[in-house]
Amino acid sequence: MTSNTIKFVHENRIVEIKNPEPNETLLNYIRIKLKKTGTKEGCAEGGCGACTVVLGELKNKNINYSAVNSCIMFLPTLQGKQLILVEDLIYKNGSLHPVQQAMVNYHSSQCGFCTPGFVMSLFSMFKNHSRFKDSIIRDSISGNLCRCTGYQPIIKAAKSLNNKNKIDHFNKNKKNIINMLEKINNQSIVIYKKDKKYFAPRYVQELKKILKKNIDSHLLSGGTDLSLKVTKERNDMNSIIYMNSINELNYIRNNNGYIEVGATTPLIKFENYIKKYYIDFANILKRYGSVQIRNVGTIAGNIATASPIGDTLPILLSLDAKVVLRSIKKTKIISLEDFFIDYRKTKLKKGQFIDSIRIPLFPKNIFKAYKISKRFDDDISSVCASFNLELKNKIIKSIKVAYGGMASIPKRAKFCEKILLNSSITEKTIIEAKEALEKDFKPISDMRASGKYRIMVAKNLLHKCFLEIEQKKLIRIDN
Ligand SMILES: Cc1cc2nc3c(=O)[nH]c(=O)nc-3n(C[C@H](O)[C@H](O)[C@H](O)COP(=O)(O)OP(=O)(O)OC[C@H]3O[C@@H](n4cnc5c(N)ncnc54)[C@H](O)[C@@H]3O)c2cc1C
Ligand code: FES
Ligand code: FES
Repeated sequence: MTSNTIKFVHENRIVEIKNPEPNETLLNYIRIKLKKTGTKEGCAEGGCGACTVVLGELKNKNINYSAVNSCIMFLPTLQGKQLILVEDLIYKNGSLHPVQQAMVNYHSSQCGFCTPGFVMSLFSMFKNHSRFKDSIIRDSISGNLCRCTGYQPIIKAAKSLNNKNKIDHFNKNKKNIINMLEKINNQSIVIYKKDKKYFAPRYVQELKKILKKNIDSHLLSGGTDLSLKVTKERNDMNSIIYMNSINELNYIRNNNGYIEVGATTPLIKFENYIKKYYIDFANILKRYGSVQIRNVGTIAGNIATASPIGDTLPILLSLDAKVVLRSIKKTKIISLEDFFIDYRKTKLKKGQFIDSIRIPLFPKNIFKAYKISKRFDDDISSVCASFNLELKNKIIKSIKVAYGGMASIPKRAKFCEKILLNSSITEKTIIEAKEALEKDFKPISDMRASGKYRIMVAKNLLHKCFLEIEQKKLIRIDN
């Protein structure tokens, strides 16, 4: 069943919008059309959290709540979801939601511009966790910036929620919302609006048919990269195919020997899964954007963007990951190493899409990854490094080293690997391997770091990796 009308739940009713504008951001809709101005615009690029709203989605007859940046979401992607704004938190009798009350009690707001965003991030935390440990609080607000109150009063407010009754009016009304979501959840969307087209297929077969006829479309997943074309570059996208309604591609499987991640799987789901296999992968993902970004962003989007500083890319290269590419007729599996051609250029052809990513498991290997960025949370890497090696009787029997931020593409350090392979870990080997990095990379200087700094950091990360192996302990500021 297809429709040109999106339906979502807001304020206890089903809202219908016929032929919505495909390039309209959710934030603009909220502020301009709904005239709800609690939700603010700070950066319009997903970086400050002022525009945070919470979406409710059906999951196994329950509602899954997630905080998102409404400035980088397009209105039609609301289809089938519940929209919760800061104005919706207040009770009918005018009393504040426990999260709002805690912010008042702990003087957590001064100018107030960031406050609705913080409230919504904390509301999402309140709904998703039963205890609010320091790490959970920090993670929950890592995508929100405050420039005047400071973070301590906000953290104190969040901690105080541990002593509050967790039942709020959203719990009491849950059944009603679930009923409404069940009614509207099963539609594929097709919108033709003047010169613009928007498709949100629900199945891969449907996607293929749409792709065949609309080969020049932009594939939109979480939109955490693509949406900036509209919000920052001020370009409209004429044809969009929204991937994240395809549940068939939202999965993580352990396929005996490798983990397969479907293209529409949100990073946050993957982060929780991968920690039992590669803890450093999960550690890097914790610092990847913010909860808002990871709630919608995908590995497939990170790979297709092919940024030299995409955080998952050096990790996946060192783990020898494969990309499953599908087109209308064919499926092709290629090594991620062969996927990147040049700066932001990949082997992805028109009519093709990323179906899944296969990540081999190396249970006997040592795996380590490091991210260096100017700011600990919600910042893009200056340098990212990843090491995957097998040690036997103190000899390195296999090794894959990959770096991000060191070249125009994320890349393996093959000269360095050559020095390390079949060597024992001695100071001399490490010094030689560090020197070899100068043959592997000639990094550029930019606003994030100078070339000189990058090469020094790359060498030091290699050194750190082997120090950690030798000393059998982690040398991390966050441990
Ligand atoms: C505030 C902020 C912080 C960020 N922090 C980080 C960070 O710390 N580390 C990092 O690496 N990145 C970061 N990013 C970048 C971005 O979040 C990632 O690149 C993300 O993985 C993109 O995934 P997405 O699903 O949102 O992709 P989208 O934005 O939807 O798409 C990105 C590109 O991939 C293509 N694409 C998407 N899905 C498919 C598919 N299935 N098949 C083929 N092509 C596809 C799109 O056409 C587009 O070209 C950040 C972005 C923002 C806005
Ligand atoms: S306005 Fe800054 S994250 Fe949306
Ligand atoms: S209260 Fe002013 S920016 Fe946070």
